Amino acid sequence: MSDDLLHQDDIKAAVRSAYTAIPTGGGEAVTRRSYRPQELEMLPNGAISWALGVGNPFPYAEIQPGEMVLDIGSGAGIDTIIAAKLAGPDGRALGLDMLDEMIDRARAHAQEAGVDAEFIQGEMEAIPLPDATIDVVISNGVINLSPRKSRVLAEIFRVLKPGGRMCIVDLTVDEDLPAPVLTSPAAWAGCVSGALSEQVFRRKLDKVGFADVWIGNPVAFGLREAALYPLFTPVLLDEMRQQLPADRHDDVATSVIVKAAKRL
Ligand SMILES: C[S@@+](CC[C@H](N)C(=O)[O-])C[C@H]1O[C@@H](n2cnc3c(N)ncnc32)[C@H](O)[C@@H]1O
Repeated sequence: MSDDLLHQDDIKAAVRSAYTAIPTGGGEAVTRRSYRPQELEMLPNGAISWALGVGNPFPYAEIQPGEMVLDIGSGAGIDTIIAAKLAGPDGRALGLDMLDEMIDRARAHAQEAGVDAEFIQGEMEAIPLPDATIDVVISNGVINLSPRKSRVLAEIFRVLKPGGRMCIVDLTVDEDLPAPVLTSPAAWAGCVSGALSEQVFRRKLDKVGFADVWIGNPVAFGLREAALYPLFTPVLLDEMRQQLPADRHDDVATSVIVKAAKRL
């Protein structure tokens, strides 16, 4: 299995050090690709500068006023802030991130945006929340970063209320990537090396107990898109250019929306 080419602890350490080291996110070059004007206008500049996601969950998440939303891997707060605005004063948005630095940034950005979102430090493999407390789980470019994706999906299932749903954005791959890319810590941190095929993603969701699985809105993610993120160093981009066949340079992976429900 491709995710076994690096040990779990190595992957975890690589992801942690990559996200601790970056000086900023992808900024407007990233947000302009995915977010709509009505979402962008809810955000302070800092949240936009620090955008690191691979799409926009909101056109599909259909967050309603009063809902309890959990944003897994909330980074500097971009999606938690939008979720807090959509959930309104009768709802609540929680952001979960493993890095204290991201939590601090997210809190500052939420305050600047005037929303009462809550940010908690923790790992998606062991979500520090009670069972059945969340209506909607969102996430943007994060689940791929875990070497224990089935565990993460089981944790999402556990914290969702019966009748709750998840709506996440992540990258999938149709064909395995070359081994030098799969074993590159930087490519893991960039969400590419840990990407599952759509088929494997569905199988994991089914096994955990999710129903009504829908995977859609495919958008190609090639070397041009990768270069927008500070995680893809020039060395890594060169390596990928050399290792991947030319016809894959515009289509390294696919950004998709994954929706699934926890039945009543
Ligand atoms: C690609 S960034 C996405 C951030 C945010 N969702 C966005 O759209 O800008 C990934 C985030 O996931 C966090 N992360 C990585 N592994 C994690 C884990 N095991 N548990 C919780 N957060 C994690 C990182 O610290 C980082 O903030």
